[in-house]
Amino acid sequence: MALATVIDGKKAAASVIEAVKAAAAGLEAEAGAKTGLAVVIVGDDPASHAYVSSKSKMAKECGFKSVQHTLPAETTQEELAKLVESLNDDPSIHGILVQLPLPKHLDSEPIIQSIRPEKDVDGLHVVNAGKLATGDLDTGLISCTPAGAMLLVRSIHGEDLSGLNAVVIGRSNLFGKPMAQLLLNANATVTTAHSRTKDLASVARGADILVAAVGRPEMVKADWVKPGATVIDVGINRIAAPERGEGKSRLVGDVAYGQASDVAAAITPVPGGVGPMTITMLMANTVIAAHRAAGQKPPKF
Ligand SMILES: NC(=O)c1ccc[n+]([C@@H]2O[C@H](COP(=O)([O-])OP(=O)(O)OC[C@H]3O[C@@H](n4cnc5c(N)ncnc54)[C@H](OP(=O)(O)O)[C@@H]3O)[C@@H](O)[C@H]2O)c1
Repeated sequence: MALATVIDGKKAAASVIEAVKAAAAGLEAEAGAKTGLAVVIVGDDPASHAYVSSKSKMAKECGFKSVQHTLPAETTQEELAKLVESLNDDPSIHGILVQLPLPKHLDSEPIIQSIRPEKDVDGLHVVNAGKLATGDLDTGLISCTPAGAMLLVRSIHGEDLSGLNAVVIGRSNLFGKPMAQLLLNANATVTTAHSRTKDLASVARGADILVAAVGRPEMVKADWVKPGATVIDVGINRIAAPERGEGKSRLVGDVAYGQASDVAAAITPVPGGVGPMTITMLMANTVIAAHRAAGQKPPKF
């Protein structure tokens, strides 16, 4: 007896993409500036190649100039740093994305921190992390997955989360921390839980908005969910699915979706919830960066 509203990430993503296309076309018409995204990939990790080609493809669909730099696995730190420097200096490029993880012999942190903050469309530069932490949401760029998850939260609760308790399980720089800051900025009362949290189930049960970003398949059970809560499942876990045939697998989130949707009022599915929002917000960040570079007021998403 699932009562929960299923939050449709594909639909939300499609409507953001339409707005991105319109904004990119508007910028080109009014300022003669074509939005440009450069995606850099090093090595031949198949999953990373799949991500990168879908990002490049989506950028083209949005009407952007889309450039992909595919570097061999043996690329040196200096070579990669030089490429980032040249993209920093290229006025036709507004967004630079270096696909992570990099091959083991490369140090990703100095590379990420060498991207100009105004072109850091992944929102990983300390300047952008710092702006979010200090509540400056207007001049920085926000990490794509939390920005997308927040858009889904807003689709249920609106802009102002005053009086609501939010619990984020996970404290990564990529997701947990920026998500907690976005919720705090929207006036939620926020708890960040992690592997050292005591009695996580009861902490989770206090949440009107429960966000799980852990990487443990179906960890969050129905009795962790407050009746009527909004549940945002960020986890993407591939598990064996012998019922689909030998060697088959399927994707599940960090939330036991079937049972949790009997208790929650709204819940994101996996796949089709937060997942589609990540690339979408990358496009949104890039068109925002292009507007700022052209001295135009950026769109809001
Ligand atoms: N596009 C997308 O939809 C998207 C994007 C990013 C990530 N993800 C998914 O989201 C999940 C999390 O990603 P991430 O990058 O944030 O992962 P991460 O860097 O591995 O962080 C995982 C967090 O979960 C916490 N944790 C681990 N075990 C726990 C437990 N038993 N109880 C409570 N907390 C626990 C860790 O706590 P400690 O800090 O104490 O170790 C850590 O803060 C992954 O499944 C990933 O695939 C999806």
